Amino acid sequence: MLNREEEIQFEYIDKLKLIVEEKKKALGRALTCQVTTFGCQMNARDSEKLLGVLKTVGFEETDRDDADFVIYNTCTVRDNANQRVYGRLGALKPYKKNNSEMKIALCGCMTQEKSVIEKLKKSYNFVDLIFGTHNIFCFPKLLYRMYTEDKPVVEVWESTDVIAENLPVERKYPFKSGINIMFGCNNFCTYCIVPYVRGRERSRKPEEIIEEIRSLVADGVVEIMLLGQNVNSYGKNLETPVSFAELLRRVEEIEGLERIRFMTSHPKDLSDELIEVMKDSKKICRHIHLPLQSGSSRILKTMNRCYDKERYIDLALKIRREIPDISITTDIIVGFPGEEYSDVLETIDVIDRVRFDNAFTFIYSKRTGTPAARMENQVDEATVKKHFDMVLKKVQDTARKQLERFEGQVLTVLCEGVNEQDEAFLDGRTSGNTIVHFKGGRELIGKLVDVKLTDFHGFYYDGEII
Ligand code: 5AD
Ligand code: SF4
Repeated sequence: MLNREEEIQFEYIDKLKLIVEEKKKALGRALTCQVTTFGCQMNARDSEKLLGVLKTVGFEETDRDDADFVIYNTCTVRDNANQRVYGRLGALKPYKKNNSEMKIALCGCMTQEKSVIEKLKKSYNFVDLIFGTHNIFCFPKLLYRMYTEDKPVVEVWESTDVIAENLPVERKYPFKSGINIMFGCNNFCTYCIVPYVRGRERSRKPEEIIEEIRSLVADGVVEIMLLGQNVNSYGKNLETPVSFAELLRRVEEIEGLERIRFMTSHPKDLSDELIEVMKDSKKICRHIHLPLQSGSSRILKTMNRCYDKERYIDLALKIRREIPDISITTDIIVGFPGEEYSDVLETIDVIDRVRFDNAFTFIYSKRTGTPAARMENQVDEATVKKHFDMVLKKVQDTARKQLERFEGQVLTVLCEGVNEQDEAFLDGRTSGNTIVHFKGGRELIGKLVDVKLTDFHGFYYDGEII
């Protein structure tokens, strides 16, 4: 059932269909659109919604930069993401000169920052539409305004109570899908801009989530990923509170659904109940992403992570003990203000003891408005680089050793697509999220097959269907 906001957007979708139809007639060709995603899984899911609307109103998708409508769904978690967007925007300008029909739009986390809007208005005034994370559900209305008003449309909200998840979606994969279970973050880790651009935590009602998953399954989806900045605190702010573990129990019961993933877990909120549910589950994948950020208790404290080194290690080892075949992956930040060589050694010690199956290592990026940006003891670039290389090497060596343990095992793999290098091969993922290449036909895409992992190549396997 649609809520009022969703009904309004569908009215704009109908109006847009007429506009696109008229344009097609006038131009004598189809209208094309390019949707480019920066950042995380939540953004990837949002982009599927943008493309859903665009295709519904009559656009054809393209990856060409001279498309009639180009939209960048941006990320601002680290500054290099912002710089990439500015670079790509600059490169679009000449295309726009050659195609009077071309429109450019920007949405996502970057546009929630006032300084970004000012910069865009000043130096990128050829952008036709700017909106934020809170009003992405208004995309049909905003697109309509862009086509009917003769000045750029800029609408960014500070926050919203609306949850409108029933608009058209164009999934990238027919057989797997992300699904938002909550939005925003209340943690305010001192380095992180997310709480400022995504707002406070809001959970969707379990019934709505279950209903959406049921309809995805009816549409051919076998694997879902439950998405939220901090899924472990799911449901706490609902009228009738529901724990994340309880939500998983209910999702598990959905017939036809084969695999359940989730992202991201905050160590401070990961409950024993969740470990129990995972242990007993036949569908929840043997993978947990558990961002560490730093192994130094001193740094964790100034990061406001609410756990220390020992508590993290205890938790990770408990998970490994209870669910021995689990893969644990993590995020690590190097170069947080005040970080010294001894802190980096603590991080390396945690990597040694937890043995991460994979880790994303980031150089600390100063985000304006966050408490860490105001800290005086910022670390110089050369030191950060040296520490970063140390951590990266450790992470890579450990991950390699960890993944080696699967050699010779037969594991269930979801076939995800044809291998780019060799058409006779398919790419798939194990429950633990390891990538496997194996010989197989296209008809297997979207299916779960048993594959023997034969040859290890550092971060992926070659295998054979059994
Ligand atoms: N600098 C570097 N990395 C960051 N992350 C979040 N904020 C920053 C920052 N300011 C990383 C964290 C988080 C991941 C999504 O991005 O490791 O887990
Ligand atoms: Fe950022 Fe911390 Fe929230 Fe993750 S938990 S989004 S790192 S504030």
